[in-house]
Amino acid sequence: MQQIEKSSIKPDTPRVSINRTFSIAPMLDWTDRHYRYMARLMSKQALLYTEMVTTGAILHGKGDYLAYNDEEHPLALQLGGSNPIDLAKCAQIAAERGYDEINLNVGCPSDRVQNGRFGACLMAEPELVAECVDAMKQVVDIPVTVKTRIGIDEQDSYEFLTTFVETVKEKGCEEFIVHARKAWLQGLSPKENREIPPLDYPRVYQLKQDYPEIHISINGGILNIDEMKQHLEHIDGVMVGREAYNNPYILSQVDNKLCGQQSEIMSREQVIEQMLPYIEAHVQQGGRLNHITRHMIGLFQGLPGSRQWRRHLSENAHKAGAGIEVVEQAFAKVSV
Ligand SMILES: Cc1cc2nc3c(=O)[nH]c(=O)nc-3n(C[C@H](O)[C@H](O)[C@H](O)COP(=O)(O)O)c2cc1C
Repeated sequence: MQQIEKSSIKPDTPRVSINRTFSIAPMLDWTDRHYRYMARLMSKQALLYTEMVTTGAILHGKGDYLAYNDEEHPLALQLGGSNPIDLAKCAQIAAERGYDEINLNVGCPSDRVQNGRFGACLMAEPELVAECVDAMKQVVDIPVTVKTRIGIDEQDSYEFLTTFVETVKEKGCEEFIVHARKAWLQGLSPKENREIPPLDYPRVYQLKQDYPEIHISINGGILNIDEMKQHLEHIDGVMVGREAYNNPYILSQVDNKLCGQQSEIMSREQVIEQMLPYIEAHVQQGGRLNHITRHMIGLFQGLPGSRQWRRHLSENAHKAGAGIEVVEQAFAKVSV
């Protein structure tokens, strides 16, 4: 195999320590850097994941797919790919750019991803995943982790899962995130694959019991802090996706209720106040308002006025020239 030298370039920002108790799931099109900036305002402890970025995009794409705001740390880059050399190159670039963790996607079931032979279909190739992890670990000092499912198609026995985990663990992967449902690789859309296969939390708990030495985070269908606490009685960490996006203010409880901190909780109004200069800078640089406000739509979820807030942003934030006044007007419509 082609040798890739370990990089001696150190990122400008010193590495932060990672608390793996709570993380926000990687979500394509949702957990972009604007969402992550807002999430970080509400939780200092949450480990944030990027959307999946393919090795092809990083190595051959035209844009900068690795850009992020310094405030986002601790931040993990999720990679999509299955070529060990390409993954190692990308891991090295990401480490130089200051990412705190590299995560390999072994959970996405979309056709596009399967055609590229990565994502969930890699569960059937544990040796290859192990090789990928090994190649990345050779060139970076930051953790290399794997996000996976409990099975794919008919391959859904506990032994299938343990064979996968054991094989990958042998190459030094010490942290796994397990979406507690299997994926059907044919016939279901990615969205259906997040809803139809049943959740099996006890299977993930069993994995933790049998492999106490590895850090395991559970993912899938977790909706509130109480549920997170219950999971944490059996498992090392919880990863939350849709709820953290649709109802982002839930993040304001994470540090104190899950991570043992005693920090001041930011009000929704303070979150908006702190978003305004960020939004202003984005708009001044030619960005659209709704690139950011689309992630703020759920901020008042469940409160009176939430609908007016959502509607005002949806109807106005995409217009050319729209600026922070749209956010201020929307906020004026919410009674809190
Ligand atoms: C819009 C959307 C995009 C997603 N994109 C990714 C992705 O890029 N990589 C990944 O590993 N999982 C992706 N997922 C799956 C989530 O990371 C997570 O595993 C799944 O939503 C289950 O967690 P939840 O029930 O807390 O949402 C995505 C989910 C959603 C809703």
